[in-house]
Amino acid sequence: MDPIVARNRTDLIEARRDGTLALVPTMGALHEGHRSLIRLARERADQVVVSIFVNPLQFGPGEDFARYPRTFDADLEACREEGVDVVFAPSADDMYPPGRQVSVSAGEMGRIVEGASRPGHFDGMLTVVLKLFNLVRPDLAVFGQKDAQQLALIRRMAADLDVPVEIVGAPTVREPDGLALSSRNRYLSAGERRVALTLSRALLAAADEPGAAQVRATAAKVLAEAPPELEVDYLVLVDPATFTEVPDSYEGEAVLAVAARVGATRLIDNVVVRLGR
Ligand code: PAJ
Repeated sequence: MDPIVARNRTDLIEARRDGTLALVPTMGALHEGHRSLIRLARERADQVVVSIFVNPLQFGPGEDFARYPRTFDADLEACREEGVDVVFAPSADDMYPPGRQVSVSAGEMGRIVEGASRPGHFDGMLTVVLKLFNLVRPDLAVFGQKDAQQLALIRRMAADLDVPVEIVGAPTVREPDGLALSSRNRYLSAGERRVALTLSRALLAAADEPGAAQVRATAAKVLAEAPPELEVDYLVLVDPATFTEVPDSYEGEAVLAVAARVGATRLIDNVVVRLGR
């Protein structure tokens, strides 16, 4: 069955059925990573809504909002193949009517690591996610570990603002050679893609190290050997819930996260590491 395409709030209300509802928020340009979230949602709920909205609020000046890939027809086909019930694809005017004032602040956690490089990004992301929750009213919503700080902040928002939505995290889907799937990968030339592979190689090489210091050192070493086209923005080993750096004595789960520029494209990746075994 073809998904119902809801273009605005009224369409969305009409498409809602009884039973449990799962929401998968996306910005479109759907790939196998998005599809894995949709399949998880499908397993967990009676009705699956996928939102497709390139949210202007979460792009900074000079970022790729204008050239962000928009592939609605292919996205709709992917949703059809995955058995999605409703595709919610509002316009920017529908999401943000004139006169808007109030928004969500990600707090200090929104200003560190990825937030330090992208001021305002997480405030804009949380604002649209809360709006999507309020419009769609899902029982659960699925997000990828690929955007680990985003996932942590959405969990934080749900806890801090008593948002009645279960937040489900899903593992990162990678290409066979390790590259994490991303809508932005299509910006990469073949040469740039080879350089970009250093990110996952560094993370996966470090993931088996027993302690925090070794994890940091191994990942840093692989990145240092990368071709000069790779401009590393940050490499951090952080607490998965707070995104603050863990001490060398840390035991338990941590997130090793990296961001880098390859040519004009900014990429992020991370792995979960278990320390102190
Ligand atoms: P977008 O980048 O389209 O990603 C939508 C969802 O897909 C996010 O939860 C993201 O973590 C997940 N995802 C992306 N690549 C993945 C991969 N390789 N494996 C598994 N999951 C992956 O993230 C956003 O959109 C936006 O910030 C949004 C939450 C929609 C708010 O605008």
